[in-house]
Amino acid sequence: MAPVPVRLREALGEIAADVDAAFDALLPVPPDTRSRLYEAMRYAAIGGGKRMRPLLTVAGCGLFGVDRDRALRAGLAVECIHAYSLIHDDLPCMDDDDLRHGKPTLHRAFDEATAVLAGDSLHALAFEILAEEATHEDPFVRAELIAELARASGPAGMAGGQMMDLMADGAGDIASVTRLQQLKTGALIGWCLDAAAILGKVPSDRRASLRGYARDLGLAFQIADDLLDAEGEEERTGKRVGKDEAAGKDTFLSLLGTDRARQQAQMLVDQAIAHLHGFGAEADLLRDIARFAVARDH
Ligand code: IPE
Ligand code: IPE
Ligand code: MG
Ligand code: MG
Ligand code: MG
Repeated sequence: MAPVPVRLREALGEIAADVDAAFDALLPVPPDTRSRLYEAMRYAAIGGGKRMRPLLTVAGCGLFGVDRDRALRAGLAVECIHAYSLIHDDLPCMDDDDLRHGKPTLHRAFDEATAVLAGDSLHALAFEILAEEATHEDPFVRAELIAELARASGPAGMAGGQMMDLMADGAGDIASVTRLQQLKTGALIGWCLDAAAILGKVPSDRRASLRGYARDLGLAFQIADDLLDAEGEEERTGKRVGKDEAAGKDTFLSLLGTDRARQQAQMLVDQAIAHLHGFGAEADLLRDIARFAVARDH
């Protein structure tokens, strides 16, 4: 893997520490029988994952001078949805996985009912965070963040893409796989940049370049995930590999093979970066993130 630039390495370290500290503060374990649920939420939310979505949110907010505390709250919200989506994605009724972030999946460490409830609760926590005044003093801004995250999470977004992923029968074409991946992975990544524009009160007709960046990045990111499933190492990814082919999933790899899928991912990264041409050095972190999205080994 190509070395991670210092700027990105520092930003990843900082966001991971901030996200962990925030979840620790948000999820104190109560002294009653709900403690198991809170422990499970903490198990999923603290100490794992690259925190790409919070980092994208904060990096996007950096373009518009949004203060970091607000940007971080938006980043936490999308990470709650992401963490919940992984808990449910790993359940026996979905991908049936036993390893996540280098440790047993939540339903293995706890049980399935607790995993369902921990996912439900992280889903709810996302919207609670956005609804609070600390996210933005303008209730219209908060409402737009909430409405867009609901859209990106539901049947027109992540959950819809997960349904398409489960229904895929190996007969998909490029158009159907692109759509599946745009919903499954792209919608939440898109929200991160939308949230930056919303918090920065950027008019919607000036959001096109960021939307383009997010769309290409989302696809590249999922192709990289699929490449890691085919060629990655469990010690680095922290999850089982070689599962997509065994499950007959429709991916860019199943359609194009690894070499062409890798070229496609690189082309999408170049395209994502090209969308940022109107920005100067303030967008360098977003450029680094795009390169990392496909160069990563975890
Ligand atoms: C994995 O996402 C699932 C996808 C949507 C591709 P990440 O690779 O961002 O997962 P973590 O949070 O870093 O483990
Ligand atoms: C999951 O995609 C995307 C989600 C919305 C959770 P995958 O099933 O490929 O994610 P991994 O490989 O298990 O992390
Ligand atoms: Mg899946
Ligand atoms: Mg999975
Ligand atoms: Mg995968």
